[in-house]
Amino acid sequence: MIKVLNIAGARPNFMKVAPIYAEMKRRAGEFSPMIVHTGQHYDAAMSDSFFDDLGMPKPDVHLGVGSGSHAVQTAKIMTEFEPVVLSEKPDWVLVVGDVNSTIACALVCAKLGVKVAHVEAGLRSRDRAMPEEINRILTDSISDLLFTTSQDADENLKQEGIPAERVRFVGNVMIDSLLDHLKLAESSRIRADLNLAAGEYAVMTLHRPSNVDDKLVFSGILDALLSVAARLPIIFPAHPRTKAKIEEFGFADAIANSNIRLIDPLGYLDFMRLYSGAKLVLTDSGGLQEETTVLGIPCLTLRHNTERPVTIEMGTNILVGTDPEKIMSAAYDALDSTKLAAATLVPPLWDGKAAGRICDELIQS
Ligand code: UD1
Repeated sequence: MIKVLNIAGARPNFMKVAPIYAEMKRRAGEFSPMIVHTGQHYDAAMSDSFFDDLGMPKPDVHLGVGSGSHAVQTAKIMTEFEPVVLSEKPDWVLVVGDVNSTIACALVCAKLGVKVAHVEAGLRSRDRAMPEEINRILTDSISDLLFTTSQDADENLKQEGIPAERVRFVGNVMIDSLLDHLKLAESSRIRADLNLAAGEYAVMTLHRPSNVDDKLVFSGILDALLSVAARLPIIFPAHPRTKAKIEEFGFADAIANSNIRLIDPLGYLDFMRLYSGAKLVLTDSGGLQEETTVLGIPCLTLRHNTERPVTIEMGTNILVGTDPEKIMSAAYDALDSTKLAAATLVPPLWDGKAAGRICDELIQS
């Protein structure tokens, strides 16, 4: 029997932990899983609603760290997590993604000599100004087992000198959650509530510090959006950081007077229902690049790089950066094209069975 602490800290972690935890619960003779929530994300809309939608039980342990500078948040997670590891004595700690909770918990384990498995290892944007890139590189370098979602990630790890015997290409566990919940999401009333018909609106998400903390960059993106919104409504569920910046930079009126509909962050099922009916998605999120690829929805990524190149090579993703002209022209191309969706492929092992493969590997390791 393997005892595993599954770390969930921030919104993009929850849909990765859910299928792994569920699989471990199903294999009760082999696994004794627990969920540790660091509290990095704590608003109901950023955390609790995801646990509900994903059918996850309340966390076994809640560290309640909350927000702070990167140093404060990372240090708090480490200080709170260390005694949990010492008292629970897990066989494995499983961390997912690239958020501060990921590196903080991995580092605690590496120092205590407790085995860590990193799910979604090997992704690289090559942009070290991105806090997540630092988290990825460091977490991979100290993890005992690295589960990758795509073969480019295996190649990245090889180039960094990580021994191949620590790496397992298992596919994309986030797609397990997507495929598991697609049907359920049809019962969401979000499209009716917002009076939207499938294929007649765009969805936008934006929260990266490089896009929303810089007034000039954000206002350029907004200019492009205002222009695209003249063609079709853009639904914009905004992260708390983004909402605060819209107020601070004085953008609220321009948005209120446009066809951009700024709404609160949505739960997992409502958001899935929303983007799965979109004509176009504009985003700086990592996960949404993958979800749109699987569903064949055109996605414009408002960044200069991506750690998920397979979504461009095989999927629907296009990297457009933050130049307003480029965003507008790519958006118009996508809106006018009928070919994109049909021409795309789903990357290998994004098949809804990644959690099973992760559990098999943990048993054998
Ligand atoms: C974090 C992750 C990022 C991920 C994003 C998804 C890191 C370094 N970044 O960024 O990779 O894409 O989550 O959302 O870990 N806040 C709230 N309520 C909350 C959480 C945050 O109001 O529940 C506000 C706080 O003002 C906080 C700010 O949002 O200071 C930023 O939160 P934080 O967790 O530091 O980073 P994110 O931008 O959410």
